Amino acid sequence: MSTPRPAPDRYALYSAAAQNVEADLDFAKALYRRRHGVAPRRLREDFCGTARLACAWVRGGRKREAWGVDLDPQPLAWGERHYRQALGAAAQRVQLCRGNVLTARTPPADMILALNFSYCIFKQRAALRRYFRRARAGLATGGAFVADIYGGTGAITATREQKVIRRARGPAGERLPPFRFTWEHAHFDAVTHDVLCHMHFEVLGGKRYPKAFTYDWRLWSIPELRELLQEAGFRDVEVHTHGWTRQGLSDGIYRRVDRFDNEIGWLAYVVGWR
Ligand SMILES: C[S@@+](CC[C@H](N)C(=O)[O-])C[C@H]1O[C@@H](n2cnc3c(N)ncnc32)[C@H](O)[C@@H]1O
Repeated sequence: MSTPRPAPDRYALYSAAAQNVEADLDFAKALYRRRHGVAPRRLREDFCGTARLACAWVRGGRKREAWGVDLDPQPLAWGERHYRQALGAAAQRVQLCRGNVLTARTPPADMILALNFSYCIFKQRAALRRYFRRARAGLATGGAFVADIYGGTGAITATREQKVIRRARGPAGERLPPFRFTWEHAHFDAVTHDVLCHMHFEVLGGKRYPKAFTYDWRLWSIPELRELLQEAGFRDVEVHTHGWTRQGLSDGIYRRVDRFDNEIGWLAYVVGWR
């Protein structure tokens, strides 16, 4: 009789459901190379959680270095065990820093990435501007700050989106069992733009992870981010969004835009250059 497989950890499910590390790194690398003609080397991942992105960065090149900053020791410890230690000798080129992005001090980075909308934790303009100032101070001259943003008519209402993820892999490349991922906007406040989000997971025919992750955010808009980045001293601020397939899905190809028509749901990167 075969022994049942242990239920996957919620961080492994999170990563399979919410992260697109290779695509994020490809975007950031190409962005930097287009502007400077050389490849970036030093990357900082703000709000890094398990630091999967920072670890993937150093795995991709022998001269690369990375720093990951997060307040929470739990995902940092998980990332240390599953991503950083798996790098072998290259692990010495990744530093995981437990701390606040508002006070973090790291060597000047070519790029700082703040992904999965984590800056939405800051709900006041002054707090977000303060964070952007700190991020700018953490960049080398010519460095890029990259944050992602989501929006659209479907983003400003209480809603639930579900998808079944059938072919995902865990941190060691092991197959994860098929699972249902639910992204819930439990509440959206029209006055404050406060949004309460939950991520729920359910292994098909197996363990449930209700409210595996909860986020109490303010949903910012692109013009607000642009203005705050400029007020924080970023020289050029750019917006890059994806195109659409005939089926109305993202084509995954991000291009710089000055305007685009609103849709039900879209993703974009907002980039500030120091
Ligand atoms: C949505 S998770 C993002 C994880 C990862 N960046 C990703 O792309 O999936 C948000 C993370 O931000 C961290 N966090 C929240 N406030 C923070 C702060 N002020 N400084 C550093 N980390 C913070 C949380 O501990 C959490 O791990």
